[in-house]
Amino acid sequence: MTRLSAITPSGHAHLGNHLGAIRRWATQGRPGDLYFVSDLHAMTVSYNPARLRVLSRELLAVLVAAGIEPDQVFVQSDLARELGALSWILECTCSYGEAARMTQFKQKSEGQGMVRLGLMTYPVLMAADILLQGAAEVPVGDDQAQHVELARSLARRFNQTYGEVFTVPSAVMPPTAARVRDLADPARKMSKSTQDSAGTVFILDDPDLVQRKIKRANTDSLNRVEYRPDEQPGLANLLEILSACTDTRPKDLAEQYASYGAVKAATADAVVEVLRPVRERALELLADPAELDRIRKEGAHRAAERGAHRLSSAMRLAGIGS
Ligand code: TYM
Repeated sequence: MTRLSAITPSGHAHLGNHLGAIRRWATQGRPGDLYFVSDLHAMTVSYNPARLRVLSRELLAVLVAAGIEPDQVFVQSDLARELGALSWILECTCSYGEAARMTQFKQKSEGQGMVRLGLMTYPVLMAADILLQGAAEVPVGDDQAQHVELARSLARRFNQTYGEVFTVPSAVMPPTAARVRDLADPARKMSKSTQDSAGTVFILDDPDLVQRKIKRANTDSLNRVEYRPDEQPGLANLLEILSACTDTRPKDLAEQYASYGAVKAATADAVVEVLRPVRERALELLADPAELDRIRKEGAHRAAERGAHRLSSAMRLAGIGS
C-alpha cells in the first residue's frame, strides 16, 4: 500500500510542516512510499522564479535530511508532462462547483487582485499527484483533508464512468500537531507565506533564533498553566508543540510546569533538539550540489516509471491517445 504526500516550496519549511508532516513521513515511511516537493503548486499565486528554484532545492534537502529515504523523494515538476496530462483528464471529471467550494481556494483568493485559475484547479493537480502513483494513504495536516476528499471523489467518479484504474485514497491525520499555530498570533496556523516571521520557526533557523522566537510567543495574562485550547490558544499551542516533541499528552504536560516561562523554556529546548539533526544534515546536503542533483534525477526517473501505466490506462479508457 503506497503512501504519498508533498510539501509546497512557497516559503521556507517550518516547525508545523516538520511536526505535522515531514517527521511522520520519515518515521512511519515504508518502502515504496513517495514524498515530493510540489513546486507546481507554488505557481498558483504571484512568485519569484529564481526563489522558487532555491526553495525547491532546499526542501528536497530537508526531506532527505529529516530521514526520508533518498529513493522515496522527487520534485513534482520533473513529472510535469505526466501530471499535466492526468490533471486535464481529472479536470474533465471534476465539476466547477466542487473546485470553487474548496475552503483553501476561498481563503486564498480573497482580497487578491488577479486570482490565478490555477489557484482554483490546484486541488485537481493534487488529485493527479495522488492518483498517478496509486497512493492508498495520504498523510496530511487537517488543512489538506478536503483536498484528499476531492481526490477520493474524482477517483471513484472516473472509475465508475470509464473503468477501474485508480486506487481510492484516504487522508491520514496525525494525533497531535495536526495544526501548529503561529507563535505571535495563535489565531492563525503557522505558515510558510506569513509576512512577519516572528511567529514562525523555520527548520533551518539557527538554534538561538528558535529559542528567541519561542520565548517571545504570545500567551495570555491569566497566569494559569492549563491545557484549554479555546480559552488559552497561545499556551495550548506551546503545550501541543512540546507534546509532539516529547510524546506526552498536552494535558499531562500542563501539570508539570508552574509558569508560562517554564513551558516556553522546555518547549524551546525540545524544538531545538528535534530540529538540530535535520538542520545540520540539510546544510551538509545543500553544500553538496552534485549529490542533491543525483537524488533528484533518480527520484524523477523512478516516480515517472511508477506512474506511467496508470496514466496510459486512464487515457485509453477515456478514449484518448494512440
Ligand atoms: P503544504 O506545503 O501547505 O504543507 C505540507 C504539509 O505540512 C502540513 N502543515 C502543517 N501541519 C501542522 N501545522 C501547520 N501549521 C502546518 N502547515 C502545513 C500540511 O497539512 C501538509 O501535510 N497541497 C499540499 C502539498 C501537496 C500534496 C499533494 C499533499 C501537493 N500534492 C499530494 C498530499 C498529496 C500543500 O501545499 O502542502
